Amino acid sequence: MLHGKRILLIVAGGIAAFKSLELIRRLRERGAAVRCVLTDAGARFVTPLSLQALSEDRVYGDMFSLTDESEMGHIQLSRDADLLVVAPATANILARMAAGLADDLAATVLLATDKPVLAAPAMNVRMWTHAATVANVEILKKRGVTFVGPNDGAMACNEHGPGRMSEPAEIVAAVESMLVATQRPLAGKRALVTSGPTREAIDPVRYISNHSSGKQGHAIAAALARLGAEVTLVSGPVAVGDPAGLRTVHVESADQMLAACLAAGRVDVAVCAAAVADWKAAKPAGAKIKKKTGTQPPAIELTPNPDILATLSKPGPGRPALVVGFAAETEDLVANAIAKRSRKGCDWIVANDVSPATGTFGGERNTVHLVSAEGVEAWPTLAKGDVADRLAARIALHLGRPRSAEAAE
Ligand code: C5P
Repeated sequence: MLHGKRILLIVAGGIAAFKSLELIRRLRERGAAVRCVLTDAGARFVTPLSLQALSEDRVYGDMFSLTDESEMGHIQLSRDADLLVVAPATANILARMAAGLADDLAATVLLATDKPVLAAPAMNVRMWTHAATVANVEILKKRGVTFVGPNDGAMACNEHGPGRMSEPAEIVAAVESMLVATQRPLAGKRALVTSGPTREAIDPVRYISNHSSGKQGHAIAAALARLGAEVTLVSGPVAVGDPAGLRTVHVESADQMLAACLAAGRVDVAVCAAAVADWKAAKPAGAKIKKKTGTQPPAIELTPNPDILATLSKPGPGRPALVVGFAAETEDLVANAIAKRSRKGCDWIVANDVSPATGTFGGERNTVHLVSAEGVEAWPTLAKGDVADRLAARIALHLGRPRSAEAAE
């Protein structure tokens, strides 16, 4: 995924610096070349020798070293990279970046760069929530710096809360999606995404529905659009707003959702993230069903809804090159997802555990498995936006592959 990419990793001084060693390994496993800049404070936590051994490159630290300047000036150092990663990004280096200081090699490189920058903050929870840090992060975001984390949890200082640096796998996922996004690899491709619940009328005031928030589906539509795809998002009733840069069609029922999907025309990829109600009332009442005291509650006869995913997956000349379904399961997640993939006829299934304990429904994070003809991949727990970016990057890779590679799957 990162073959031929060059990452400049800036390691600042925090206890999380030890995770940067694992980060280097993971980035290199994905094919990236990693070069490190170590701050003086960073060198208190990890040694230049460890960074050098893992990156198999020399480590830069001293701005005034003549050899560094003659071999590799600070401008060259940043120009040579495709992406700069600051991990751990301490409160101090974020403040220096926001202020535009150039008081050591790391800060100078960050000021001189014209490349995308990813920061993985790591600090004590009070430092992270301090108004100064909040303001610095706001400034940096406005200037285009991307942030991954921090995560919630126990900290080395015996406190609890946001401030833990993201895990190396999460940082790698963010690096991948940033590097793919700069290339807009889905330009010229058309995508269809379904999202949210459906509402099946029982009578004009009552309906059958579910708790789907639409957050994951909407994030996928937005991620595909960021990669350059022309996206139609078919959304059931949700509280989240329409994403920018794409067309959103609002529907209520499964029948309307299917009609809107078919009306979207030919697409290269369809992602069915909607939680479509399995059944609808066979005969919705035309007027509100009256409550009559002393009589039995009314029986509602149900009939199955059309299966949108199975319909879009049917072989034929108009079938999208890639159809992706979701499987929300509370038990036997992977086995059910594998079975669902063949039952529905889709190419990939994104399987997520929605047992109440996971907080996936309506929550901000998701732990998924990607099930394809090639096997089952377990992804780390990620923010829904990061799951979306990673899935969109995978879709871009797949659609970019030569036809012979697809046929061989
Ligand atoms: O059958 P089940 O609801 O578990 O399958 C989930 C997958 O199928 C999701 O991708 C969902 O969007 C899709 N689906 C659909 N139409 C239905 C039911 C499910 O598109 N009627």
